[in-house]
Amino acid sequence: MSRTVYLNGDYMPEEDAKVSIFDRGFLMADGVYEVTTVLDGKLIDFTGHAVRLQRSLKELDMASPIEMEDLLEVHRELVKRNNIDEGLIYLQVTRGAPADRDFVFPDPEKTPSTIVLFTQNKPGLANSPAAKTGMKIISIEDQRWARRDIKTVQLLFPSMGKMMAKAAGCDDAWLVEDGHVTEGTSNNAYIIKDGKIITRNLSNDILHGITRAAVLRFAREAQMEVEERAFSIEEAQNADEAFVTSASTFVMPVVEIDGAKLGGGRPGPVAARLREIYLEESRKTAI
Ligand code: PDD
Repeated sequence: MSRTVYLNGDYMPEEDAKVSIFDRGFLMADGVYEVTTVLDGKLIDFTGHAVRLQRSLKELDMASPIEMEDLLEVHRELVKRNNIDEGLIYLQVTRGAPADRDFVFPDPEKTPSTIVLFTQNKPGLANSPAAKTGMKIISIEDQRWARRDIKTVQLLFPSMGKMMAKAAGCDDAWLVEDGHVTEGTSNNAYIIKDGKIITRNLSNDILHGITRAAVLRFAREAQMEVEERAFSIEEAQNADEAFVTSASTFVMPVVEIDGAKLGGGRPGPVAARLREIYLEESRKTAI
């Protein structure tokens, strides 16, 4: 069934939503995005995503095409029109479509940003069977650009990483730079040792995950110990547990890293508990 999507101020059937071939998102990956989860027909951590979007736009000197209150309204309207109970809302803003291809940024007065939102219906998202079995991951060298804190649509290397994982019979890849894990291809990476949750500290090297912020807050509130620092693949292979977080997977256990099994190859109790707390608390504050 055709979705109703949002493009530059209008709601329309997905097949009618067309963007110019000169759009800088298409020609130059000159765009940023957000993925917000919907549970029980409500938005999880909308404010976190809206604030990060503003930051991404600012870092790239890109004009915001919409006021934040209006953005919330568009999200809600899309949830309603597409009857989403569990799923995702994808949002993308690009630097728009100038008259021709040019490396130089167009004048924002003459070239408005392009904004697109669409829904992805995912019934059973919170009950994913993968959370019970856990993920197998491989490690690969992090070959992305150096501003991973900006959520840009340059996702070719993460896509390649997922394909490498698939070819190796695994579910995802962790990216390694200078001997330390930065993050997963589309998630933040964690290990647990002696009850302590260890995850890379925030910097330009990783995306500042909205789920990461919430999970660490809930963990600290539950008196769990958290350490924000880099770790190696070897340390991860010797950890008690590992997991990843993202808007679309919440807290997802990792049970194998480059062939080394963690916790006998089964999800551990800390990751399971964090997933439970995250889902419970996030549902409470969903809007
Ligand atoms: N990915 N790191 C990377 C590289 C990501 O692409 C993502 C999110 C995260 C987690 O961020 P958050 O908790 O805010 O979702 C970390 C989204 C879900 C995606 O690309 O589909």
